[in-house]
Amino acid sequence: MTDTPRKILVTSALPYANGPIHLGHLVEYIQTDIWVRFQRARGHEVVYVCADDAHGTPIMLKARAEGIEPETLIERVREEHEADFAEFHIGFDHYHSTHSAENRELAGEIYRALRDAGHIATRTIDQAYDPEAGMFLPDRFVKGRCPKCGAEDQYGDSCETCGATYSPMELQEPVSAISGVTPESRESEHFFFRLADFEAFLREWTGSGRLQDAIRNKLEEWFEAGLSDWDISRDEPYFGFEIPEAPGKYFYVWLDAPIGYMASFRAWAREHGEDFGAWWRPDSDAELYHFIGKDIAYFHTLFWPAMLHGAGYRTPSAVFCHGFLTVNGAKMSKSRGTFIRARDYLDHLNPEALRYYLAAKLGDGVDDLDLNLDDFIQRVNSDLVGKVVNIASRCAGFITKRFDGQLAAELPHPGLHQAFVDEGEAIAAAYENREFAQAMRRIMALADQANQYIDEARPWVLAKEPGREAEVQAINTQGLDLFRILIVYLAPVLPKLADEAAAFLREDDLSWAGRTRAFTGRSIDRFKPLMTRIEGSTVESLLEASKASLGGGEAAANEAANGAATGAAEPDPAVEPIADTIDFDTFAQVDLRVARIEVAEHVEGADKLLRLELNIGSERRQVFAGIKSAYAPEDLVGRHTVMVANLAPRKMRFGVSEGMVLAAGPGGDELRILSPDDGARPGMRVK
Ligand code: MSP
Ligand code: ZN
Repeated sequence: MTDTPRKILVTSALPYANGPIHLGHLVEYIQTDIWVRFQRARGHEVVYVCADDAHGTPIMLKARAEGIEPETLIERVREEHEADFAEFHIGFDHYHSTHSAENRELAGEIYRALRDAGHIATRTIDQAYDPEAGMFLPDRFVKGRCPKCGAEDQYGDSCETCGATYSPMELQEPVSAISGVTPESRESEHFFFRLADFEAFLREWTGSGRLQDAIRNKLEEWFEAGLSDWDISRDEPYFGFEIPEAPGKYFYVWLDAPIGYMASFRAWAREHGEDFGAWWRPDSDAELYHFIGKDIAYFHTLFWPAMLHGAGYRTPSAVFCHGFLTVNGAKMSKSRGTFIRARDYLDHLNPEALRYYLAAKLGDGVDDLDLNLDDFIQRVNSDLVGKVVNIASRCAGFITKRFDGQLAAELPHPGLHQAFVDEGEAIAAAYENREFAQAMRRIMALADQANQYIDEARPWVLAKEPGREAEVQAINTQGLDLFRILIVYLAPVLPKLADEAAAFLREDDLSWAGRTRAFTGRSIDRFKPLMTRIEGSTVESLLEASKASLGGGEAAANEAANGAATGAAEPDPAVEPIADTIDFDTFAQVDLRVARIEVAEHVEGADKLLRLELNIGSERRQVFAGIKSAYAPEDLVGRHTVMVANLAPRKMRFGVSEGMVLAAGPGGDELRILSPDDGARPGMRVK
C-alpha cells in the first residue's frame, strides 16, 4: 500500500521577527503542515523545520524604536510566533532562529567556500547615506519623486505609479525615511556573489522537474534578462553576522536566511543524534522540499541552489510556491479589519476551521486564494459539522445508549467499506501532489455517501420496532466504520479533531495503511461534540477585534470572544437541538430575577394558565404562566423561582402579564419551573 519509506526534510519560509503571524502567513504554514502530516501517515520519515528570520535593518530599527536590544525583540517575537504556530497545530520538529550559533557557523563556512572557489567579488559602490542617522540606507528607506513620471512619495527602488525601477539616488528630492534629511551619496566597498558563474548549473537544475510551470516560465525571463551579481554585504550598523575577515561588513539578511533552514536542521540533528551530513551531502538519499510564497521565488530558485551547489552541498529536490491570500476578494486591509492576525483569529475561532477552509481551496499552483468569510462559515458548517461530525453523532449515540458501547461483530455492507478504502488511493495522490482541494472534494463526496447510507437505512425507525436490535447495531457500526476512514483521510488537515475522534472510538491507529481494517467487534466511548458551528456574529467580532488591535485598542478586542459552546452528553434524538450561538451581549440583554411566588390561583375560563403574583424585591408583578397542567396553585405559594423581568408586558384576555416564569420540558405534566438554590432572595439578578 504505502511505498518504501522515504526520508523527507521539509521547510516553510522563515517569518521575519519584526511582526506578528497573520492569516497570509498561515496559508504557507498550514499547507506545509498538512503535507508533512500526510507523509507521516503514509509511513515516511519526515523532519519539518523552520525558524525566525531575525536579521536586517527593519528589525534593528524596530528594536531601537522600542528602546530595546534587537536580541530582546527577536526573543519576544519568537515566543509569540511559536505560540501562534502551536495553536494552529503546526507541528515543527524544530523551530530555530537565524540569529544562532549554528547559523553563524554555517553561513561563515558557506561564504568561505564560495569565496575560496572565486565566486565572491568586491567593488566599491555609491549608496544613499543618512548623515543624521549615521548609516547607509536600504532602498526602501529612501523616498522621493519618481525620476520618470514625477509621482510623489515613491520608494528608492521602484515607482508604484509608472513601474519604473531605479536606484535611490536617482529620486528627485530624496529624503531618508529614518531622519527626514536629504541623504548623501557615499562610497563603500561591497561583496557580491557572482551568480552568473552558475548559469549552466542553474539552467539544468531549474529545468529538471523541480519547479512549477509558472515559476519555470518566470525563470526563463530572469535568464534572458541576465544573471547579475548579487550584493551580499551591508555596512554597520546592521543587525546580522559580521563577514569573516571583513570587519565592519555584515551579511545581507537574505544570505543567511535560507542557511537558517540548515541551521535549524542541524540543531534538530544534534538533539536527536542524527547525522547532519547524511541529509545535506550531494549524494544524500533524503529529499528536501521548500514551501514558499511566490514573492520569494528568486531567492529560492536561483541564489539558494547556486550557493548550495557552489559550497558542495546537495540542492533542493523541489521548491513549492503558493500564491497570496486575499480576504473577501481584496488584499488584506487593516482598515476593513481583514488584516487578521493569527492571535486575533485564535481568540475567536477554531484553528481547524481555517485549516479546513484553506485545504479546500489549495491547489498545486501559484494562484492567489481568497478567504471569503461567508463562504468560510458556510463551508465549515456544512462540510465539517453538517456532514462529517454528524455521522459520528448520529451513530455513536445509538451504540452507546442501546448497546452499551458495543459494536456489531461484522459490517452489514463490506462493499461500502471497501469502496471507501479504495478511494484512499486517489485521495493520497491528491495530497502527494498538493492538490488539497481535490482531496477535500473526494473526502466530502464520501461523507455524503455515508450520510446517505444512514438516511436510507433509517436506524431510528428500526429502533422502535421490536426484534430489530441487531440491524440497528449493524447499521450504526457501519456508519462508525465509514466515519473512521473519513477521519484517517482528514487527519492531516484536522489533527486535533482526529485525536478527539480517535479517543472516543478508542482507536490508536489512524495511519493510511490501517484504514483497511473493518471497525467491528469492539467497544467505543461516549461521543463528545467534535466541532461546533461558526456563527456570523463571531466572524463579525473577529473583524472588529482586528481593527481594534491594529489600531492599538487592545481592550475592546477581546470582549466579544464567546466560544463557550461546549456541549455535554451524547445527542439524544428526543432532545431539541441547541439554538444558534449568541454573543454574551445578546444574552446579557435578558434580565433574569429571582422571584418569590406570593399568590398563585386558577383563572376563570383558562385551562392552561395560573395567575401568579411575583415579588422581585423592588416590585410585585402579575404573570400568567402556562403551568396549570403540572402544578396545583397551593404547591407554588411561597416558592422561589426565576422570571424574565424585562419582557415587554403582554395584554391577555384575563389581564396584563408582566413577565415570564422560566420552566423546562415539552409541556403537559412534563413541565418543571426553575428554582434557585437555598438562600437566593427576591430581586437577585441571574447571570
Ligand atoms: N523572511 C522571509 C523568508 C526567508 S526564507 C529563507 C520572508 N518572511 S515573511 O514573513 O515576509 O513571509 C514568510 C512567508 O509567508 C513567505 O513565504 C511569504 O510568501 C508568506 N506570506 C506572507 N504573506 C502572505 C500572504 N498574504 N499570502 C500568502 N503567503 C504570504 O519572506
Ligand atoms: Zn513613476
